[in-house]
Amino acid sequence: MKIVNTIQEVREQVKEWKKQGLSVGLVPTMGYLHEGHKSLIDCAVAENDKVVVSVFVNPMQFGPKEDLESYPRDLDRDAALCEKAGAALIFHPAPEEMYHDDFSSFVDMNTLTGGLCGKTRPIHFRGVCTVVSKLFNIVTPDKAYFGQKDAQQLAVIRHMVSDLNFGIEIVGCPIIREEDGLAKSSRNTYLNDEERKAALILSKSLKKGRELAEAGEKDAGKLRKVITDVLVSEPMAKIDYVEIVDWNTLDAVDRIDGPILAAIAVYIGKTRLIDNFILA
Ligand code: PAF
Repeated sequence: MKIVNTIQEVREQVKEWKKQGLSVGLVPTMGYLHEGHKSLIDCAVAENDKVVVSVFVNPMQFGPKEDLESYPRDLDRDAALCEKAGAALIFHPAPEEMYHDDFSSFVDMNTLTGGLCGKTRPIHFRGVCTVVSKLFNIVTPDKAYFGQKDAQQLAVIRHMVSDLNFGIEIVGCPIIREEDGLAKSSRNTYLNDEERKAALILSKSLKKGRELAEAGEKDAGKLRKVITDVLVSEPMAKIDYVEIVDWNTLDAVDRIDGPILAAIAVYIGKTRLIDNFILA
């Protein structure tokens, strides 16, 4: 497995593979890889001849008060995981490689990005869409892999690919959880022991909500209330949002008639965690 830092090196390698008729899968990440990322790489390795993993903590998707500086990084560990999983190339650019001094073009979206995480992170999805577009143009993959844990991101990327005719298949992969139910996330490393225990309230609340929905409850308000009631029972949890939205439009729904996304964002101490379930 190769690790390269420049756009030119990626382009040359991918050109070589394409000349040989090989298919290419891309797993975009911000590094500090865990089992959730590994499941994306596993899926990509199973479906493509060559897999590129990008490891880039994208400054453009962090707000001024967010955790860009403290975001965990460990390239050696990431490289070992990627190699073991069968990736062929890691693209690990420096910020200056991705954003030149005179960088001034952005990919923005008028729908899907205003609610859920977009409400408290107003510039986040512009940063995600811009960097993912750049990665798509640099790597030119046949398929790209994103986790359902960031469900809004997955919906936004799918919409962007359709709007801008990227010609890349977007594959969404299920949420990977710790044994006790906590959704895997690089940000879980911020939690101390007490917070780690309290964080279980996220998956517990969604489990309750899912049970109610699967039992046939059609009132989205009731579903929202059940999830909220469980969350407020944990004194360390501070709710950012609990939303029941249409899985295609991400608009809030009153009735559950079609595919829905139940999504939550909760602060445990200073750490903001997200989790969700989709009922298709
Ligand atoms: O999901 C992430 O880790 C990031 O948002 C992504 C897609 C790699 C873009 O920086």
